[in-house]
This record gives sequence, structure tokens and C-alpha cells, in this order.
Amino acid sequence: MCGIVAYLGKERAAPILIDGLKALEYRGYDSAGIAVLEKDGVFLERAVGKVAVLEDKVAKRGESEGSVGIAHTRWATHGGVTERNAHPHRACGGAIYLVHNGIIENYKEIKSELKSKGHEFLSETDTETIAHLIEDIRKDVSVLEEAVRLALGKVRGTYGIAVVSEDEPEKIVAARNFSPLILGVGKNEFIIASDATPIMKFTNNVIYINDGEIVTVTPSGYRIRTIGNEEISRDPEVLDLEIGIVDKGNYPHFLLKEIDSEPDAVRDATRGRLEIGSGNAKLGGIERVEDEIVQVNRLHICACGTAYLAGAVGEYMIEEYAGVPVELDLGSEFRYRKPIFEENDIFLAISQSGETADTLASLREAKEKNVLTLGVVNVVGSTVSRETDAGVYQHAGPEISVASSKAFVSQVAIMALLTLFMGRRRGMSLVTGERIAKELSAVPAFMESILRRKEEMKKIAARYASYTNFLFLGRKYNYPIALEGALKLKEISYIHAEGYASGEMKHGPIAMIDENFPSVVIAPQDSVYEKNISNIQEIKARRGPVLAIATEGDKDIAKLADDVFYIPKTLEMLTPLLSVVPLHLFAYYIAASKGLDVDKPRNLAKSVTVE
Ligand code: G6P
Repeated sequence: MCGIVAYLGKERAAPILIDGLKALEYRGYDSAGIAVLEKDGVFLERAVGKVAVLEDKVAKRGESEGSVGIAHTRWATHGGVTERNAHPHRACGGAIYLVHNGIIENYKEIKSELKSKGHEFLSETDTETIAHLIEDIRKDVSVLEEAVRLALGKVRGTYGIAVVSEDEPEKIVAARNFSPLILGVGKNEFIIASDATPIMKFTNNVIYINDGEIVTVTPSGYRIRTIGNEEISRDPEVLDLEIGIVDKGNYPHFLLKEIDSEPDAVRDATRGRLEIGSGNAKLGGIERVEDEIVQVNRLHICACGTAYLAGAVGEYMIEEYAGVPVELDLGSEFRYRKPIFEENDIFLAISQSGETADTLASLREAKEKNVLTLGVVNVVGSTVSRETDAGVYQHAGPEISVASSKAFVSQVAIMALLTLFMGRRRGMSLVTGERIAKELSAVPAFMESILRRKEEMKKIAARYASYTNFLFLGRKYNYPIALEGALKLKEISYIHAEGYASGEMKHGPIAMIDENFPSVVIAPQDSVYEKNISNIQEIKARRGPVLAIATEGDKDIAKLADDVFYIPKTLEMLTPLLSVVPLHLFAYYIAASKGLDVDKPRNLAKSVTVE
């Protein structure tokens, strides 16, 4: 989704801004642009398509010498994907340039008022309105940050913005409402960005800007004020990230690298937290609220996309083994229905990025109801991690590919840890706890044994790559995995795929089955094995091709299914951690064989910061 980078320092800004945009590419975008304040005027360049196209255009135009500038990757919401709609946007007076993430809800009213005052608009975006509004206010208020503050007072919606003005050439003003913004404080330089990746190269001293805050940077320092004009004093904190991780290495795509690191993601999520001897989990981030967690009446899990499916696995685990009633919700639904909270209910948000707008809005809804809020989050310092009362970090490292993979298994592993944490404090026996803990500690090695057979899955995927429809079936713990398998395939290969609970096949999907409609059936030897086998038989009776994901040693299933990919035997509740690996590989190999942009699928964004 949209990305912001802004630089003020002593170096040439253009290459730094372009590099910053490249670091943000993984979020998904469709056009990009930069504006640099020069000695005589402003260097503005925008381009549709990749940052490389913009870089080319910038290089062809020759040197941009300025050392203050703003840049943006756009993911179209208001107005088509055109150069004119790409940011930075300029007010008609020519002095003010602005980049924006988010959506301005009342832009139409503001725009028509400004038009009646003579402002001329060049784009179809909501963003351009803010630039003109600031310009308009500046007729009476000359100081840029004050004009920005007053303008934001009139604006309704979500934003992260960065603004520069030709007549105050040594200044950047940035502000945030519901769209992330981080200030990197280097030596004699500042870099502002919508996530930490462009900042990491410069400094690990960062300041998280909060909703309703405006930060102004000049060569002499930074200053934070609220939109209500209150002065805020905040020192930088140290950002804990390794730059080296954001590198594809020898892999053709980040996604394959990230699938390959799924075993490590489980190791990193469980390291130091799994206590096999006592069959328990040590979760430092939630110990403070342990008493409330032990007394929980109902756990409301809320998330979006793949994180929601990790929550769905968690629902099965926590209800079966910790005896805690769980209610699972999509962020986009939770925020608009009227959720009922009872005494001792707890809200749990799961989010890799910690910035997903719907998850965040749901979290805020829960906070308003005075419910204890917890988070399972990967990005350290992200908004969800800062706004929840307590939580568990995933420690999966940056996930670059838009489609989530290693973050998913890491979230599922944390669901298992939470099950132990809650279960053992609520009557789960030592023997059961020990069995789960021991088996969970063996999962990464099992995953590695699957990944060593990547080529086998590549060959299977090649046999299925030409089909245009897929059904993914699974039951109980593997129902969410059927949904995840289908989601991953459609996200990155654009092939229509539906995930279904196996038992529901007879209530609809079976009507579609024929020799051109393959099914991927997750059928490990668990408590619902026989039922899945019946489903395979029903599909075969209608000549539907079947790829089964089955337990090692299950020879019978090979007589039924056209193809079988085996996974090691583990506890039923932990099979999702194994069955999902071949499904991620399956989607990856099909998409890669079609030559698609696997890491940046069309129309998708890594972190969906708008509603
Ligand atoms: C986007 C991504 C998905 C991700 C979802 C939730 O749709 O493309 O891969 O699962 O957002 O993201 P979160 O950061 O909240 O886990």
C-alpha cells in the first residue's frame, strides 16, 4: 500500500529517496514520485509503474542537487493509475508539495470550497485537496507547520503526510492520523518514512509519531506538536532490526526465501518460551496480565487475511486444549457489528505488520469497551504493538513478500504457546502440556524435511498449473489451512480457488466437480481422516483430479488420489504447521511457472492501511 519517504540532511536527497522507495516496494504500489527542493525551484518527477521507471526518468533529467525532499509510492484509491494522480501533489501557487497515505473522507466538500476560491486542481485524488488547503491557510499563517496544523483540523479521514514548501526550503512537516509514520534521527540528518525499512540503513534511532501529532524537522532538530497545539517531548528509541535480512540472497523471489524460513520462524517464535519439562509456555509479554488471562471468560480473536486464518487455527487449539471459549472475527466485520463483551472477556489482535487498518480499528473499539487487549504482532513498535495492553512478538524478521507465509506459521506457533499458557493455568494436565510442548519443539525439523522435498512439489505443481479452478478441502484443524491454501493460490497466481470445510462439500461445491476441476484435500491421519477419505471418494466418483496432503506411510490414500504429498506425523493440533508448507510451495511454484510478479501480486498490498 502507499509508502512515504522524506529526507532532510546534507546529502543529495534524490538517490536517498529513490532507495527509500525501493525499500518500500514490497508493500505494493502502482506509481511513484519525488519532489526535491533545489536552489532554484523544485525537482518534481513522477512515473507510473515500478520505482525503476522513476529512477530512470530522474537519471535522464540529470542532477538534482537538493538535500531536502519527499517521495511516495502510490496504491490507487481515488483516481486511476496515472502520472497526474501520482504523488507528490502540488498546490496551484506552486510552493507547496505533499505526499499522503490514507483517505480524506471530506475531500469533496473541501475541494469545492477551495475551487470556489479559485484553486485549480490537476488530479482526481483526495490528497491534492490537502496541498491546496494548506496553501489557502498560508495566506494568513505564514509558518508552514502552523498552516499544516490548521489544515489538518479541517480534514476528516486517515493520513500520514509529509509536506515541503519552496519558501521554507530547510523544513519538512509530517503528520499522522491512523497511518504509520516513523522519524529516523541520524547525525545531522532526518529520514521520515511510513515504515522502518527505508530508515534502517541510516540509523536505528527512531521516534514513532502518534495519531494526531505533527513533527517538524529542520537542520537544527525536530519538534513534535499535537493538532491541538500541545508541545510533545519525545526522545528517540532504538529500533531493533537487522538490515541483512531484507535481502533476497540467491532466491528468485522473497516468497520462496520466506517459505524456506518457515522452520526458523517457528523456532524464533518458540525460542526461550517453550518449557518442555513443565509442559508450559513462558510468555514474558503477557505475564503482567497473567491473572486476567487465567480468569478469561471469552477470548475475541480479531485479524485480517492470512493472520485471520492463524487465528482460526488458534480457535480450535484454545477451545480444545485450554477450555476457553473463542470468538473469531475479521477486522472488517468486527468494527461494524456490535460485539458483545462480558466480564473478563479479552480481545486479541493478530497482525504481522501491526498496522492493518481494520484490525487496528477493531482494537480501538475493544479498548473503548474497556476490555483487556492483547496482540500477536511481528513488527516491533508497530501501532497494534503499542496500543495493546500486552502481547507476544513473533520475532519472524521482516516479511517482504506481500503474501504472508513465514509470519503465518509463526502466528500459529504462538497460538500453540498461548494454548499452553492458558491451558496449563486452567487445568491442562502436565502430561498433555508436555506432549504438546515436546511435539511443538519437533515441528521445525519436520518442516525442514518437507522443504527438502521442494522439487517433488514443484513437479506436482507443474501438473496442475493449467487448471483454472481449484477447490481446497480440509476439516477441523485443517479447515483454516484449506482456506489458506486457496487464498495463497489466488493471491499470487490469480487462479480461482475456493477453500471449503470438507464436510460442506456436499452442500454446494460438489456441483462444480468434473475432470477439469481439481481438489486439494488435506487428509492427515487425524480424528477426521475417514471423513476426508469419503470426500475424496465422492470427488473421484465425479472424475475430479485430487491432490492429497497425507501422513507419511499412508499407502491407502495413494490408491485413491491422483497425487499425494506426504507430511510427517505429528499431534493433530499441530498438523496445520506441516500441511501449510506444501500448500505454500504449491501456490508459489504455480505462480512462478507463469512468470508472475510473485512478491508483488497485482492490486494487493502488504500492509493494508486503508479501510
Ligand atoms: C494483506 C496481506 C496479507 C495479510 C493481511 C493482514 O492483505 O497481503 O498477506 O495476511 O494483509 O496483514 P497483517 O499485517 O495484519 O497480518
